[in-house]
Amino acid sequence: MTLSPRLKKTVDFAGKCGVVADIGTDHALVPVYLIENGLYRKAYACDIRPFPLKRAEEYISSRNLSDKITAILSDGLKNVPADVDTVIIAGMGGEMIIDILSSDIAHSGSLFVLQPMTSINDLRLFLYSNGYSILDEEIVSEHRDKKLYSVMKVKRTGEKAVFSELDVLLSPALQLKKTCEKDLYIIKNISSRLEIIENLKKSNFPDLEYMKKTESEIKLLERCLNAE
Ligand SMILES: C[S@@+](CC[C@H](N)C(=O)[O-])C[C@H]1O[C@@H](n2cnc3c(N)ncnc32)[C@H](O)[C@@H]1O
Repeated sequence: MTLSPRLKKTVDFAGKCGVVADIGTDHALVPVYLIENGLYRKAYACDIRPFPLKRAEEYISSRNLSDKITAILSDGLKNVPADVDTVIIAGMGGEMIIDILSSDIAHSGSLFVLQPMTSINDLRLFLYSNGYSILDEEIVSEHRDKKLYSVMKVKRTGEKAVFSELDVLLSPALQLKKTCEKDLYIIKNISSRLEIIENLKKSNFPDLEYMKKTESEIKLLERCLNAE
């Protein structure tokens, strides 16, 4: 089975271990890949909605993996057994990922692989402020670079991190990366901020604090453009 670059990076960050839970599994592509490739011995394919869960069950059964992958109807991690080593939450908004992490303690010792579709800076801020450490982060591109995705490998340390304004825009692990995808991500972030500033300038009552913050973020981002 071939996964999209986004999901391939997600499974690569999950590595090889014992029991994995895929939250918001939809088609169950991720758990099926991890089990078929012998990377995990057991998986929970979890979704909040019955229809995607049924689709997941059908796919799992079509691959003869019903003895190794259990489909669970669950809002986030609520109905997920505690024996998991790794929790994957991919293809969801950053706010939803924050909600799921905030309402759970039973799985806090797991490795988390997070792939937010939106609110990425909010998610990084939440992680730093709530005792999680971003061990690794990479930007993956799809559709000829039209779509860029962040994938993060995260562990809860329980220690509140000291972090900078730049760390919210790019995690320290991502700052160290020298890839074209990272540069494209930075350029996209700079462009959206330039647009914000243009719009603020057109406004009769521009929010000057917000403008200053946005300009400062652009400067920080520009300094990180460095792919070889
Ligand atoms: C866009 S799909 C992502 C599928 C797959 N994880 C991926 O990355 O391609 C999002 C899935 O998350 C499920 N979902 C949304 N909120 C959820 C929650 N709180 N708990 C579990 N699943 C949720 C949806 O029903 C949907 O099937």
